[in-house]
Amino acid sequence: MAAMSALLTSLLILSNFSLGTSLSSNYYAKTCPNVESVIRKAVRDAATRDKKVPAALLRMHFHDCFIRGCDASVLLDSKGKNTAEKDGPPNVSLHAFYVIDNAKKAVEAACPGIVSCADILALAARDAVVLGSKRSMFLMFLVQSGGPSWDVPKGRKDGRTSKASETIQLPAPTFNISQLQQSFAHRGLSLEDLVALSGGHTLGFSHCSSFKNRIHNFNSTTDVDPSIHPSFAASLRSTCLAKNNAKNAGVPMDPSSTSFDNTYYKLIFQQKALFSSDKALLDFPKSKNLAMKFASSKDAFTKAFIKSMIKMSSITGGQEVRKDCKVVN
Ligand code: HEM
Ligand SMILES: *[C@@H]1O[C@H](CO)[C@@H](O)[C@H](O)[C@H]1NC(C)=O
Ligand SMILES: *[C@@H]1O[C@H](CO)[C@@H](O)[C@H](O)[C@H]1NC(C)=O
Ligand SMILES: *[C@@H]1O[C@H](CO)[C@@H](O)[C@H](O)[C@H]1NC(C)=O
Repeated sequence: MAAMSALLTSLLILSNFSLGTSLSSNYYAKTCPNVESVIRKAVRDAATRDKKVPAALLRMHFHDCFIRGCDASVLLDSKGKNTAEKDGPPNVSLHAFYVIDNAKKAVEAACPGIVSCADILALAARDAVVLGSKRSMFLMFLVQSGGPSWDVPKGRKDGRTSKASETIQLPAPTFNISQLQQSFAHRGLSLEDLVALSGGHTLGFSHCSSFKNRIHNFNSTTDVDPSIHPSFAASLRSTCLAKNNAKNAGVPMDPSSTSFDNTYYKLIFQQKALFSSDKALLDFPKSKNLAMKFASSKDAFTKAFIKSMIKMSSITGGQEVRKDCKVVN
């Protein structure tokens, strides 16, 4: 009986996120056949002008999917008394919302009222990863596409609720491996998904505030987390100090932070991971072995990342197709 109700409860929790909407690759084949190229162009145009754009889009999609499912709740503006997710505490690295707005405008011009903002964000995140691949950066000038890509299932609906208070449901950079595993399991994602998706940290930038717990006042007896390589810790401290811990001070997530590769996993094993949550992947034998596999094979990483991205981006939750990604209909 207890087992039965536990099962029912977990089914209910999952159904809040994932049942009810079925996604498919050819969802817009008849209603908006060019949707993918329209979005790709918007992402590419923006990324050409600002190389911080791909990382921003990837993280935005992750934040969207982890709160109320991938329902574009992250895109809604605060309104009246309601403070939206994007104005909640972990908003420091959310940016480039304008890219989604531009893509939405272009998509609406081609097929009004058809394509959800949640689908636009899922496609833009995929395009961001493809652009981040070195090979495709090079091939971009020669051919239209190239580099590792994948089919994104479509048919998500946009939600009508976005609350800053719910952003505490996102995993924190101070999380240990059990907390991370639990946060992912709550969304139907496995330990393998956790290790593969953490590889998203091959792109982008981190502010000092996100890792300061490790380089100052680690605990009451130790100033610097002894699990960080000493020279790396020293360089993090001097970067953050030099800028006087200014709000925008920080470091690239990895030295090749504009190219999508498996450097992230190599860095963890060199004790050069930025967050406690990154180095925590080595604290369970199973996740450590996976990180090892991804550190030694970019191909194994890419395959696993794609599989887990499809899984994460298929957590659905919305009800409508928004006309403007910033406001509910
Ligand atoms: C496993 C739990 C995760 C934690 C605790 C975490 C935490 C963080 C933190 C603290 C930052 C830096 C924010 C800042 O200081 O600006 C960050 C950045 C980033 N994260 Fe994660 N993250 C996680 C998972 C993911 C996943 C699953 C993805 C995507 C697949 C992802 C993609 C990114 C990207 C691309 C950035 C850089 C953003 C930018 O440069 O604009 N993260 N993450
Ligand atoms: C981020 O969140 C903080 C705290 O909720 C808020 O004061 C700030 O205005 C937000 N920043 C942005 C860029 O939305
Ligand atoms: C992770 O943190 C939680 C909460 O602080 C704690 O209960 C748990 O024992 C920790 N797990 C590990 C593996 O350190
Ligand atoms: C502080 O961290 C160090 C290194 O992990 C550890 O050896 C020490 O026991 C910790 N001290 C306290 C008071 O938790």
